[in-house]
Amino acid sequence: MIVDKHHRVHNYLRISLTDNCNLRCFYCMPEDEYDFATAEQLMQPAEIETLARLFVDQGITKIRLTGGEPLVRKDAKEIIRRLAQLPVTLTLTTNGTRLHDFVDVLKESRVQSVNISLDTLQADKFQLLTKRDHFAIVQQNIQLMIEQGFHVKVNMVVMRDVNDAEIVDFIAWTKNTPVHVRFIEFMPFTGNRWTSNKVFTMEEILAVVAEQYDFIPLKPEKNETAKKFMVPGHQGTFAVISTMSAHFCGDCNRIRLTADGKMKNCLFSKDETDLLTPLRLNQPVLPLIHQSIATKAVQLGGQFTQDYEQLQAEIIQNRSMITIGG
Ligand code: GTP
Ligand code: 5AD
Ligand code: SF4
Repeated sequence: MIVDKHHRVHNYLRISLTDNCNLRCFYCMPEDEYDFATAEQLMQPAEIETLARLFVDQGITKIRLTGGEPLVRKDAKEIIRRLAQLPVTLTLTTNGTRLHDFVDVLKESRVQSVNISLDTLQADKFQLLTKRDHFAIVQQNIQLMIEQGFHVKVNMVVMRDVNDAEIVDFIAWTKNTPVHVRFIEFMPFTGNRWTSNKVFTMEEILAVVAEQYDFIPLKPEKNETAKKFMVPGHQGTFAVISTMSAHFCGDCNRIRLTADGKMKNCLFSKDETDLLTPLRLNQPVLPLIHQSIATKAVQLGGQFTQDYEQLQAEIIQNRSMITIGG
C-alpha cells in the first residue's frame, strides 16, 4: 500500500501522457512561448505500462489519463490498450476534440466514464478562451459519448467576469442532457494569470444557482473532490470542486505522474521525484515512490484564505497546469 504520514491510502494514479495540447486555454498554459517536452523526455508506452504496473502492485485501483490533451499523442491508443490489461478502473480527462476517433478503443478497453473540459456554451467565447475554433466538435463529441453509453462529466473552470454568468446556462443544459457538470474554482499555477478576484467560490456558485433553481445535495462518495447536487426533474446533475475555498486534502488518495516521468505527491507540491531516469537505468523505482509519499504535505489546497505572498511562495511556483494534468 502507498500510505503517507497522515494515514492516507493512495489508490488513484493520474498519468499525464503529454504536455502538448491542441487548445490554448489561458488559465492552463503559460503566457510566454513555451517549449513542449521532446519525444525523448516523454515516457514511452512500455515505460508507462511498467510504471503503472509498479503502482498497481502497490494498491492503485484507478488510473486517469490526463495531459495536456492525452488524445493528441500519436500512440494514445497503444497506451490505452496496454493499461487496459491492468486490474484498474481506467478513465481519462480530455478536451473532447478527438474523442470521435477513440470510441472503439475506449469501449474495447472497458472505459466507462470520461471527463470533458468545457468552460463555455458559447462558440465565440470558446474561441476567445481556447484560441481555437473547436466548439462544435466538442459539443458533438459530448453527445456522441452520451449516445455511446459513457458516463460524461463536464469540467467548467469558473472565472469571475469570464464565464461566471454562464453557470445557470450549464444548469439549464442538464435539464434534458444526462451530463454531470462540475464547476471548478480557478486555481493558481505558474504563468496562468490567476488573481484572487477571479476566483468564483463555491459559496458564490451555489448562490447563483439558488437564485433560479431548487437543488438538493447528493451523498458524497469516498475520496470525492466534488460536492454533488441535483436539481429535481433534471436528467443531469452538478457539483462544485472547491479546491480554493473548501479543500478536500484530508481524504486525498491521489498521486500524479507527469508526462516526463516525475512523480508528484500533491497537485500543489513543488517537489518532484524522477521515476523515469532510474527506470531507464534499471535502478530500483519502488523505494522512490514510498520516499516521495512519505514527504506529502498534510494540505496544500485551501490556501485561498491566506495572503497572496504566501500563495505565490508556496503554490504558484509550481509547474504550469498543462504539465501536471490537473
Ligand atoms: P473524478 O475521478 O471523476 O472525480 O475526476 P477528478 O476530479 O479526480 O479529475 P479531473 O481530471 O476531472 O479534474 C477535475 C478538477 O479537479 C481539476 O481542476 C483538477 O485539477 C482537480 N483535481 C483533481 N484531483 C485533485 C486533487 O487531488 N487535488 C486538488 N486540489 N484538485 C484536484
Ligand atoms: N484551475 C482549475 N482547474 C483547471 N483546469 C486546468 N487549469 C485549471 C485551473 N487553473 C482543469 C481543466 C481540466 C482539468 C484537468 O483541470 O479544465 O478539466
Ligand atoms: Fe491532495 Fe494536494 Fe489536492 Fe490536497 S491539494 S487534495 S493534498 S493533491
